[in-house]
Amino acid sequence: MRRSTVLGCGSYLPEQVVSNDDLSRTIDTSDEWIRQRTGIRQRHIAAEGQYTSHLALNAARDALKRAGCTADDVDVIVLATATPDNTFPATAARVQAGLGMKRGAAFDVQAVCSGFIYAMSVADNMIRLGQANTALVIGAETFSRILDWEDRVTCVLFGDGAGAVVLRGEEAAGDNRDRGILSTHLFSDGTGYDMLYVDGGPSTTGTSGHVRMQGREVFRHAVTRMAEAIEISLEANGLATKDIDWVVPHQANIRIMDSMAKKLRLKPEQIVVTVDRQANTSAATIPLAIAEADADGRLQRGQLVSLTAMGGGFTWGSVLLRW
Ligand code: ACO
Repeated sequence: MRRSTVLGCGSYLPEQVVSNDDLSRTIDTSDEWIRQRTGIRQRHIAAEGQYTSHLALNAARDALKRAGCTADDVDVIVLATATPDNTFPATAARVQAGLGMKRGAAFDVQAVCSGFIYAMSVADNMIRLGQANTALVIGAETFSRILDWEDRVTCVLFGDGAGAVVLRGEEAAGDNRDRGILSTHLFSDGTGYDMLYVDGGPSTTGTSGHVRMQGREVFRHAVTRMAEAIEISLEANGLATKDIDWVVPHQANIRIMDSMAKKLRLKPEQIVVTVDRQANTSAATIPLAIAEADADGRLQRGQLVSLTAMGGGFTWGSVLLRW
């Protein structure tokens, strides 16, 4: 049996850091309100002229270096984003050009905050089927470009950034018997459309629009769906929550993550958290968090790691893997 194993992870955050206090100078909010309701202290914001592809390219180069690979090894780039550079071509194609790659395939996946889970699932299936041997999977966003900076309910929640992983197909035998992605599970329910959406687009207003959200409904769905997606993945593999070493959830709000952990009876220390420093970078939160936990030595070979996300659509899902 062929499995996708993580060879290396990379990340990139724009230089500019905007604190809650900085925001409170331009809108009616406070550090206390934002911290208490979300756990967010600051976010990184892309510079003028710095696009999603630039962030993605930096994260991709970092991941390739850490994986000990070059762009020549990559067969496919799957990039998750809801904030592409342009309506077309795919931002992945710009990353491909930036890496100097002229072979293989590159395309975007759009499932908003669940985008990285969807992209991992697509790449994993391509590897399992033998359509690719090495995949570069990226989550990259410049959400700052689609925020209404006068809407205090949404603009305090998001940030910009990119994370990437390199996946390689390996035979599940010998030392690699248990290693790699065990399963991926994807879900969506389009009736949740108007609870989290952008009020623009090429086919509607012709502008890119701004994020609109019913916060409480989104909160409730996020806790339920992410916990459910983890449980489904465990059951599919004959495992239980007690077997999990780490959960890397989509980073929207610390209260969402705490409630999800409680629901699953996981210890708070088992949840990888970056939302305090990076806010919600949509499709980029999970690969950014994985890269951090890998770099600081929390993720150790053989450990069971569960990734889960919920986002606009609604979309949600999980990836269960052995590091
Ligand atoms: N600063 C100060 N006050 C604020 C702010 C702000 N930034 N935003 C809202 N308020 C006010 C509201 O106007 C309201 O005032 P009122 O009582 O006078 O009307 C009050 O705070 C309470 O507002 P609620 O919206 O009821 O606050 P709630 O406790 O639900 O928290 C929040 C709002 C933080 C958005 C919460 O609902 C939430 O986290 N939801 C999840 C949304 C999310 O994370 N979305 C990200 C995308 S989806 C995803 O990634 C899963």
